[in-house]
Amino acid sequence: MSNPKLNTDLNPKLVKLTDVFKTFNAGTVNEVRPMQGVNLTITEGSFVIVLGGNGSGKSTLLNAIAGSFPIDTGIIELDGQDVTQWPEHKRATLIGRVFQNPFSGTAPSMSILDNFSLAAKRGKFRGLSWAHSSNLQDELKDRVSELKMGLENRMDTAIGSLSGGQRQALTLLMATWLKPKLLLLDEHTAALDPKSADQVIALTDQIIAKEKLTTLMVTHSMQQAINLGDRIIMMHKGNVLHDVNANEKQRLRVDDLLSRFENVRRRELLDESVADLLRLRYI
Ligand SMILES: Nc1ncnc2c1ncn2[C@@H]1O[C@H](COP(=O)(O)OP(=O)(O)O)[C@@H](O)[C@H]1O
Ligand SMILES: [Mg+2]
Repeated sequence: MSNPKLNTDLNPKLVKLTDVFKTFNAGTVNEVRPMQGVNLTITEGSFVIVLGGNGSGKSTLLNAIAGSFPIDTGIIELDGQDVTQWPEHKRATLIGRVFQNPFSGTAPSMSILDNFSLAAKRGKFRGLSWAHSSNLQDELKDRVSELKMGLENRMDTAIGSLSGGQRQALTLLMATWLKPKLLLLDEHTAALDPKSADQVIALTDQIIAKEKLTTLMVTHSMQQAINLGDRIIMMHKGNVLHDVNANEKQRLRVDDLLSRFENVRRRELLDESVADLLRLRYI
């Protein structure tokens, strides 16, 4: 499927989390512990699907790697460097991100072209001259036309007037333009209608395969988990509960994944709200 480079020990480690703990609202009635000693290693070039019930710590895992908040204890390494103390903007030089909300990450009143140049000014693209270079404008137009959404002739259109699917496709393009070392996708198709979601997923798979991007992708879709990527991790209560490697994943079916969730529930590790969620969203 996407990436033939599987997680063998021969590939260098791109992400490494060692004993990472994170508590929000510590010492208050609202205390939550979404990371409880997370250990996770991701080899370069691997495409990891992240599953787990609501509140299991999936977004927190991605945010911790991106540096959205300081962790309590533990070590986070990216591309061979200890980035635990790095601020978010410094880590952003290595990371591309797409969130669930199509309104995140873009300026709605600005045109497609200006959004790309804004990203350039934020330092996402090397060189401020980027937006003014006609070569790069042409390249951008070519890439946008490859989306097959008819947007190449609408580069001056305000991004806010586009559909969610169009915006997510463009955001994905922006996030991957300079081949980030790591791509973080947090339910980036969850807010889209099924047809747009399929389009954005196809684009995602295509870009990741072409650029051989190391990727962590959170999804609620069992079908996406089966069809995409070369590894699945399942988060539960702030930890990695299951880790399905490439060989095992090739044989995995939606029913197998459902029964894993079901087993967890039976062992009373999952609460009822998650069970409801599974019934509603996964079947
Ligand atoms: N910035 C934050 N402040 C306070 N609590 C948070 C914050 N981010 C996440 N949480 C809490 O941490 C837990 C895990 O959240 P999250 O990682 O977003 O779950 P998931 O993405 O798996 O649904 C939840 O209880 C959530 O409310
Ligand atoms: Mg989340």
